[in-house]
Amino acid sequence: MQTPWIPFIPPSASTLSDKVDALYFYLVGVTIFFTLLIWGVLGFFVIKYRRRNRYEIPRPVAGSLKLETMWSVIPFIIAMTMFAWGAQVFFQLWRPPANAVEVYVVGKQWMWKIQHTTGQREINELHVPVGRKIKLIMTTEDVIHAFFVPAFRIKADVVPGRYTTLWFEATKPGRYHLFCAEYCGMNHSGMIGSVVAMEPTEFDSWLSGNTSQQSPAVAGQQIYTTLGCVSCHGASGEGGRGPALEGLFGKQVFLNNGQTVVADEGYIRESIVNPQAKLVNGFGPIMPTFQGQVSEEQLLQILAFIKSLQSETQPTTARPSGPVPGSSPAPAAAASPGAVNR
Ligand code: CUA
Repeated sequence: MQTPWIPFIPPSASTLSDKVDALYFYLVGVTIFFTLLIWGVLGFFVIKYRRRNRYEIPRPVAGSLKLETMWSVIPFIIAMTMFAWGAQVFFQLWRPPANAVEVYVVGKQWMWKIQHTTGQREINELHVPVGRKIKLIMTTEDVIHAFFVPAFRIKADVVPGRYTTLWFEATKPGRYHLFCAEYCGMNHSGMIGSVVAMEPTEFDSWLSGNTSQQSPAVAGQQIYTTLGCVSCHGASGEGGRGPALEGLFGKQVFLNNGQTVVADEGYIRESIVNPQAKLVNGFGPIMPTFQGQVSEEQLLQILAFIKSLQSETQPTTARPSGPVPGSSPAPAAAASPGAVNR
């Protein structure tokens, strides 16, 4: 890591970090400009309009519409540039690109547990290739943590009971600090690690260097079988007592209260730990909760399994019309969950 040109500024190593810096420097610049302007004018007025004799009575001051309009309109315009620019960077930061590679992150007092979709696990380290978009799907087993990589200018809370996401694309190979940025108990300050950005070829050999581990989708399928999910939720609708899982991820789902939801990570998680929260139209409240029976990592694996149940022809993005509840949109190739995975 080379030393940045301003002390204390972390290296800039992602596609978004320069954009965040530019915005930040703009805010600092505007602040410095007005601070100096106000000090300067203040000093000037203090000298120019000082009291020159003890019995001096100041002239009455009348309002000035021109002046008041000016000091309202100019700050308004400046504030709106901050808003528009900030919103633009914010949207880029918070909308992960659709083609990003997913990595699962589980926080725990006091470590970061990471799993790649190919199965590799890491603790307090995250290896990524430069030049590829990475999306982190994050949760925690216990308290709130926050995943913070200063060199990439990304930070997000990691919250019990829900998923948060971050994305980045590293631009320079190197080892960068990873911090927990939310006080989470005694060893919070030790909940640190590194993100290792590697050249894609190096990364590929790193990735193939330990292939013995099961991919999350395969592990998820085993949990799905062990817990007996298959008896109600056949991947393509067999069982019939629960909605089909084939092609479910990313689609719109009709609920029995007339609402629709998108079957995203959060919805699927909720449907496993609190199945009564959102009942799919046409199905009764018969599913038991699996809260406490599956760990956060297992939930992520089940999620990976459900995501893998997409037919090849169908993109993961939502189709315009929702499925007919209870019917099977499945092509024959995916009729059994076992047939889907490598
Ligand atoms: Cu985890 Cu602070």
